[in-house]
Amino acid sequence: MESRLFGLSAKTALVTGGSRGIGLALAKGLANQGADVAIVSRTEEQLETAGRQIRAETHSNVWTFTFDLANTESIEDLFASVVAKTEGIDILVNCAGTTIRGPAEDVDLITWNEVIEVNLTSAFVLSQAFCRHRRDANKAGKIINIGSLTCHGARPTTAAYASSKGGLLMLTKTLAVEWAKYNINVNAIGPGYIATELTEPLWSDEEFDRWVLSKTPLARWGRPDDLVGAAVLLASRAGDFITGQIIYVDGGWLALL
Ligand SMILES: NC(=O)c1ccc[n+]([C@@H]2O[C@H](COP(=O)([O-])OP(=O)(O)OC[C@H]3O[C@@H](n4cnc5c(N)ncnc54)[C@H](OP(=O)(O)O)[C@@H]3O)[C@@H](O)[C@H]2O)c1
Repeated sequence: MESRLFGLSAKTALVTGGSRGIGLALAKGLANQGADVAIVSRTEEQLETAGRQIRAETHSNVWTFTFDLANTESIEDLFASVVAKTEGIDILVNCAGTTIRGPAEDVDLITWNEVIEVNLTSAFVLSQAFCRHRRDANKAGKIINIGSLTCHGARPTTAAYASSKGGLLMLTKTLAVEWAKYNINVNAIGPGYIATELTEPLWSDEEFDRWVLSKTPLARWGRPDDLVGAAVLLASRAGDFITGQIIYVDGGWLALL
């Protein structure tokens, strides 16, 4: 058993959205602490490149699973194949996410449903499968959901995204109180504005960029690596008594009046 507060050796983590951006940084960050990792996303080539990169930099075992999480009915099968390959998952990081931006009155239901399915429903179904897996093995587990500043407040043009992330925060709290009896800790990380492919339309917009810098006391966009410390804390022994929380890693955004 890992005795160090922050070590993850002999642990295996499943990280959705692990092919790029925040998910890739988290998968690599957990692997740097000794964990083996399984990563999931839709784009095979990018996923394989990420897998090779994590292996080369960390020497951990890395497994890749090409899968569309909007396909919620097949998530149980995905989880079963992950368990079969890895021989068991100790840590689940629900990071895959998507967004659409536009006036709420014009959002069509197909788009709304896709955002809710990928950001919220897939996290729920994967968490269910993870819970049964840990419960049946009589083992503890850690779930980390990647929330957002929209777990706390709203912005125009983000109705589906903000609703999915608000739901993800309440899911985090509900599962934390319900699965404490199985020793499954459920927490969330709320990133501030992080420069990734998802936010490219924002950071490449000069006016938006100025607004983000003016609202962030640390006066910069976050980098995916900025989130690794919180994830390692929540995944490791140091986080054993932390559950039902969201840790905002936002450069001070929510502290500013
Ligand atoms: N960047 C920010 O400022 C920020 C702030 C707050 C919260 N977040 C959250 O952080 C998470 C990661 O965001 P990011 O900025 O790193 O975004 P990103 O660079 O666009 O990465 C998104 C990841 O999710 C995967 N993904 C998207 N849709 C998927 C689907 N249907 N099935 C399987 N995988 C899917 C993507 O791979 P494929 O496209 O190949 O499937 C990719 O690996 C999201 O939940 C996002 O809401 C980001």
